[in-house]
Amino acid sequence: MTTKEQNELLTRTDKGTPMGELFRQYWIPALHADELPENDCPPVRVKLLGEKMVAFRDTEGRYGLIDEFCPHRLASLYFGRNEDCGLRCSYHGWKFDVEGNCTEIPSDPDKEDFRKTLKLKSYPLIKVGDILWTHMGDAENRPPEPAWEFCTVAPEQTVATKRLQECNWLQALEGGIDSSHVSFLHSMELERDPLFRGSKGNKYNLGDLRPVFEVTPSAGGLYIGARRKVENGKNYWRVTQYVMPCFTMIPPRGDHPQHGHFWVPIDDENCMTWSYDYHSQRPLTFEERKACLDGKGVHVAVIPDGSFRPLQNKDNDYLIDREAQRRGETFSGVKGFGMQDASLQESMGPIVDRSNENLVPTDKGIVMTRNMLTKAAEALRDKGTMPPGREPEHQKVRSVSIVLEPDLNYADACKDEMVAGEGKARVSV
Ligand code: FES
Ligand SMILES: [Fe+2]
Repeated sequence: MTTKEQNELLTRTDKGTPMGELFRQYWIPALHADELPENDCPPVRVKLLGEKMVAFRDTEGRYGLIDEFCPHRLASLYFGRNEDCGLRCSYHGWKFDVEGNCTEIPSDPDKEDFRKTLKLKSYPLIKVGDILWTHMGDAENRPPEPAWEFCTVAPEQTVATKRLQECNWLQALEGGIDSSHVSFLHSMELERDPLFRGSKGNKYNLGDLRPVFEVTPSAGGLYIGARRKVENGKNYWRVTQYVMPCFTMIPPRGDHPQHGHFWVPIDDENCMTWSYDYHSQRPLTFEERKACLDGKGVHVAVIPDGSFRPLQNKDNDYLIDREAQRRGETFSGVKGFGMQDASLQESMGPIVDRSNENLVPTDKGIVMTRNMLTKAAEALRDKGTMPPGREPEHQKVRSVSIVLEPDLNYADACKDEMVAGEGKARVSV
């Protein structure tokens, strides 16, 4: 059982909390690169781990992520002017560079000594793939740059989207490693969605509603294997990758692109769910890319106002269609994989009280993930031990789906297949 105290530790990510400090040891996705499309374009608000910031791209193309509030009288720099290598506060014209240094106080140009003492909090912002990543921890402990396969393959092989999710990051992540709900919640979606249909794995998923979970530690997190019985006594294995602290990769289906998520805390009651689809062997087709951008597969259509809030959201009950639920067109009445997940995760409340749960064996992956996060956060807090998942070799992972003889276990049989490598064929049923 997860106690109330453990739940607090797992879910709170403000600066100074154990989990907040854990998150600050990693590069995490902050923005789509195209949210800052050109030099001197308008700044963008970014909230991560409870910290309010603005991101901007200066005249030289440098990216900056700095405290949202001007140190003069705390007006928001979101309303500032991005000009001449700096962001200028619209109130009294104080100006800041991408590292948060105050470069000008137009009303008091003589007060150089004072100006030099003003420095806004700032974090690095780097582009890897189509994503701008930030590291919000100490510079001396900065990890190597992100090496996830989905953002290091050629641009035509990959696509990523993001959406606001109105609940704590952990209950969102726990949906990403919970393979057993697919046979229920998503059961009617499997053969309809263009990014899922037609694979043999769908039949296997629906044919055995009692998967057995075998969870194995990996270098950066966990392999979460789910075994289902198929023909001739063999087993269909779906192995999800979890890498600390908030990366998941769902096992692939047939030749469809493979997909997964980053579950990034905005604050304790909201997270940004990043969804990616990529194929390690080939470019995505026009139809596949379009399907992702239209909100199919694990992606979600959002309100086009910069909020990234889904069109189906808690204020409209996710557009639940009771008739479709009754007729068996959808299991829950909510359309689409992404919102089927999000609707139920948000329905638990902003931060679910895990001390009230009644867990069963299919929740094994979730329990082990909580334990791993707790231990890593405590080891960092108590001994300064750097957590796993920061190194490139921890991040170069692949999920697999495979049929194996009954005496074989995925952890041995797929050791090499679960490591990403350029030109290496992937394993998918
Ligand atoms: S509040 Fe920003 S310059 Fe005065
Ligand atoms: Fe799901």
